[in-house]
Amino acid sequence: MKKISRRLFIGSASIMGTGMVLKPSSIWAVNRNVDVKPALLGGEKTVTKPFPRWPFVDTTEEKALLDALHGNGWGRRVKNNAADTFETSYANLLGANHCLTVNSGTSALFTMMGALNIGPGDEVILPVYTFIATYNVVALHNALPIIVDIDPESFQIDPKKMEAAITKETKALVPVHIGGSPFDVERVLEIGNRHNLPVIEDACQAHLAEWKGKKVGTFGIGGAFSFQESKNLNCGQGGAITTNNRQFMDACMGYHHQGAVLSDNPYAEGGVRGGNWRMTEFQASILNAQMTRLEQQAKKRSENAAYLSKMLQEIPGIAPAKLYPGTTNSAYHLYMFRYDNKYFDGMSRARFIEALSAEGVPCSGGYGQMEKTARVPSLAKNRHYIKVYGEKGMKEWLERIQCPVNEKVSSEIAVWFTQTILLGSKTDMEQIAEAIRKIQKFARDIKNA
Ligand SMILES: Cc1ncc(COP(=O)(O)O)c(C=O)c1O
Repeated sequence: MKKISRRLFIGSASIMGTGMVLKPSSIWAVNRNVDVKPALLGGEKTVTKPFPRWPFVDTTEEKALLDALHGNGWGRRVKNNAADTFETSYANLLGANHCLTVNSGTSALFTMMGALNIGPGDEVILPVYTFIATYNVVALHNALPIIVDIDPESFQIDPKKMEAAITKETKALVPVHIGGSPFDVERVLEIGNRHNLPVIEDACQAHLAEWKGKKVGTFGIGGAFSFQESKNLNCGQGGAITTNNRQFMDACMGYHHQGAVLSDNPYAEGGVRGGNWRMTEFQASILNAQMTRLEQQAKKRSENAAYLSKMLQEIPGIAPAKLYPGTTNSAYHLYMFRYDNKYFDGMSRARFIEALSAEGVPCSGGYGQMEKTARVPSLAKNRHYIKVYGEKGMKEWLERIQCPVNEKVSSEIAVWFTQTILLGSKTDMEQIAEAIRKIQKFARDIKNA
């Protein structure tokens, strides 16, 4: 018979004594043994089974691909193609009037900025805590990316700092629903309206996330989605623009299609600038197949995230990233939480990540300091930028984009799990919490080993 620990004994005794029914979060706490040696110190891993592989694939994808292979054409055709089918079903699912497929999330952002005619001399505001693509698209339009700091509790753009960064040169706000959780939609929209500035939602990580029951990507002038392979909806590479604004959709259509109007005549003149950011039929057919599982997978992530949060909240020094009160659903592309080393004997976040990974829980520290990565300061020396903004202007820009809150969050506090972990079982979630408790218990030994 397995030796019963004192904690387990006391726990079971009190349950038996009172006849009390324990909530799930309490059950795991009394039933699991966190007194055994952590994996990093030579003990056994807490999680021995790998988390689900991503993406899920079956004959639905195989058939869709073969249909595209033998269909009407491999590129974008006007009617009855896989891209049309996807655009209609994705727009319906989101409650958006229009959807346009493009070949990546980067292209979705780039196209929308092109449609707004953003260019040299303009400023575009974005959060520091995002994938570098949000910054790159502004620089590709030769506009000035104005990077602003974050709310340390949610890791989302700080609306107050966003507003403070607005100048007469600002032409668009590009807040990001980072991790798939909505930024403070109401405050951001209110600021956009008050300053008469279009809001482009970077929803590249936020498929099916909701604010007050309405899907993100439908609030601003347009929403950008990514279907790159790590994303909750994926076709290897791909993207989409969603909007309720017909005129804006037409402008995006032209910009992504060599400045033409997408019609029966592939060369119909639109009279605007543009390039080729179109999606192929292979990408669209995979998306149509993956769409059959999207809602059910989203539900599972949300349920697991809620269960995990309930358990992690009970651990001193661990706090799931704050969701704003308007959030009715997070896409949980990332499960992000805050680590406070005061409750772990001063153990660094890097060591905590090492210890948790050793327990069989893949995790990372997430994004770093965007404004310090080589591509950002180098823009201040770019001759085209110096021509438009002057050397002094670019020096001042470097000062404007420093983000001290993010410096601390990204170097000491943030810890991430990726969305595939949330597709695991309830037991997996319990084991994650168990692994963290174990690390906490042995923090001093792990730190000093
Ligand atoms: C927040 C954010 N914006 C933009 C992008 C760019 O999307 P893609 O990789 O499809 O170009 C990504 C995806 O990685 C992202 O996470």
